[in-house]
Amino acid sequence: MKMEAAGLVFVLLILAQSSAGSDDKLNVLLILADDGGFEMGTYRNRICQTPNLDALAHKSLIFNNAYTSVSSCSPSRSALLTGMPSHQNGIYGLHQGVHHFNSFSDVKSLPNILREHGIATGIIGKKDVGPKDTYKFDYEQTEENHSVQQVGRNITFMKLLTRQFLQNYTQQKPFFLYVAFHDPHRCGHTNPEYGNFCESFGNGDEGMGLIPDWQPIYYQYDEIDLPYFIPDTIQARKDVAEQYTTISRLDQGVGLILKELKDAGFDNNTLVIYSSDNGIPFPNGRTNLYDSGIAEPMFISSPLHRERWNQVTYSLTSLLDVVPTILDWFGIDDSNDVAPVELTGKSLLPLLTKEPKNVTNERVFASHSLHEVTMYYPMRMVRTHRYKLIHNLNYQSAFPIDQDFYISPTFQDILNRTINKENTYWFKTLKQYYNRPEWELYDLKHDPEELNNLAGKPDYKKIMQDLELQLYDWQNKTQDPWICSPHAVLEDKGAYKNNPQCMTLDNM
Ligand SMILES: *[C@@H]1O[C@H](CO)[C@@H](O)[C@H](O)[C@H]1NC(C)=O
Ligand SMILES: *[C@@H]1O[C@H](CO)[C@@H](O)[C@H](O)[C@H]1NC(C)=O
Ligand SMILES: *[C@@H]1O[C@H](CO)[C@@H](O)[C@H](O)[C@H]1NC(C)=O
Ligand SMILES: *[C@@H]1O[C@H](CO)[C@@H](O)[C@H](O)[C@H]1NC(C)=O
Ligand SMILES: *[C@@H]1O[C@H](CO)[C@@H](O)[C@H](O)[C@H]1NC(C)=O
Ligand SMILES: *[C@@H]1O[C@H](CO)[C@@H](O)[C@H](O)[C@H]1NC(C)=O
Ligand SMILES: *[C@@H]1O[C@H](CO)[C@@H](O)[C@H](O)[C@H]1NC(C)=O
Repeated sequence: MKMEAAGLVFVLLILAQSSAGSDDKLNVLLILADDGGFEMGTYRNRICQTPNLDALAHKSLIFNNAYTSVSSCSPSRSALLTGMPSHQNGIYGLHQGVHHFNSFSDVKSLPNILREHGIATGIIGKKDVGPKDTYKFDYEQTEENHSVQQVGRNITFMKLLTRQFLQNYTQQKPFFLYVAFHDPHRCGHTNPEYGNFCESFGNGDEGMGLIPDWQPIYYQYDEIDLPYFIPDTIQARKDVAEQYTTISRLDQGVGLILKELKDAGFDNNTLVIYSSDNGIPFPNGRTNLYDSGIAEPMFISSPLHRERWNQVTYSLTSLLDVVPTILDWFGIDDSNDVAPVELTGKSLLPLLTKEPKNVTNERVFASHSLHEVTMYYPMRMVRTHRYKLIHNLNYQSAFPIDQDFYISPTFQDILNRTINKENTYWFKTLKQYYNRPEWELYDLKHDPEELNNLAGKPDYKKIMQDLELQLYDWQNKTQDPWICSPHAVLEDKGAYKNNPQCMTLDNM
């Protein structure tokens, strides 16, 4: 035992000297939660205990206005790794199983660009994008090699993999390591034996196995902080309590990964980014473009920019900004590397030193097409600080419900109560949730819950036209195949090659 410990210290010393040493290599660690939200002290949740995330936030700029560009797992991860919205990179829905969506094979992804620039790349955890060569990392420990529970929820295993990457791949080169937790994703649909959120996996109970590094935290359901979009029922509260327990594993996992980084001598030259792929798996959350489906936690910790540590930025930020930010950090010019595509995101590094003064022109966009292959419900969105416009292209169909969410106690409770004509204690009815108008316009200052649709109201005509135009411009710029939907057909080949047109269907 003693010998081993001494040997480890020796290795670490050498690493600290050779890697973090004089040549000032800069690295990136990107940490992603799976369906994680704002359940942490940093975002003023009083109940859910997250000391490790809060400690990272203390050394970070904390984002209060960060949004995903799509509220679905694979599409969001593909956008995160390409800087292109899902309609542009080709992953219109989930990658795994029968859904089978893949990006276009010629899309340039972050790991591929970085590798060409001599940067070592690694992924540990849930990948859920393809094809393989389009998203290729030098070191891959994902659901393609392991059970997703081991590689995405077993924080001891993830810690050891991180150590392996930091020891074997970072001697000569700067690195980009992407640690994608599967926590706190739901579990009831795939592995109900571990609980609704896999909150029992590895807790040491009979048949659950043990995750040595995890001290589970359990919560009283009557002490939960409920967000406005979750019904106040015992069923929903118990569901949230289980989600919180799983977040204790995510939080302690983040602590272990950051300790590995520090022990390997990289904590003074590594940019650490923490965020999540989409909204939490509750009603009005994941798969929606309401704020409850797209707002994300986000911290950026730069050891080279300490000026704004533990400060909050209100600047409107998109997960599409992550690729430009990482390229900027490595000093890589994105216009050369992703051409002929022009990325619409921007580097966030300037925010690390100062808050922009005039935010009038800030906006974020979103583009959702499917989730599961059966869930065709394309939506496009633009959000400013004050307003949000959503275009529901398939508004004539009912809003679809995914398998994972359907089986959740919270949705089952809403459904049962609706069928039995009982009070649901929810802020919407299922009928409202399923049936959406083509256009939704909200004044977020006065209506943060997005309940009062202003689309079509004469007083808002000018605002609506302006937002419609901005959305259309973005769809055009990002080569959205849905740009003319649902009342026209895009013609952009043959006679229309140089002059793409939306040709009317006269179907209103
Ligand atoms: C990190 O620390 C090492 C050792 O103290 C030092 O040589 C190196 O210059 C530092 N790197 C940065 C980017 O500050
Ligand atoms: C994991 O899978 C990747 C891609 O499928 C493969 O290149 C790699 O060798 C595998 N690694 C292990 C340890 O099996
Ligand atoms: C990484 O290095 C360790 C020793 O530090 C070695 O045991 C292991 O096989 C290496 N793994 C890979 C994937 O190279
Ligand atoms: C988690 O990983 C560790 C290290 O590989 C292993 O010893 C442990 O049994 C795993 N726990 C579970 C619940 O699979
Ligand atoms: C902020 O920017 C907007 C749009 O560019 C401009 O119209 C406005 O005058 C600016 N406000 C200030 C205070 O500079
Ligand atoms: C919903 O109703 C079904 C059938 O009556 C029942 O089996 C189930 O337990 C109920 N679920 C909830 C969450 O109330
Ligand atoms: C997209 O913009 C280009 C350049 O402004 C324009 O030529 C083209 O017609 C637009 N496409 C559509 C479908 O409006």
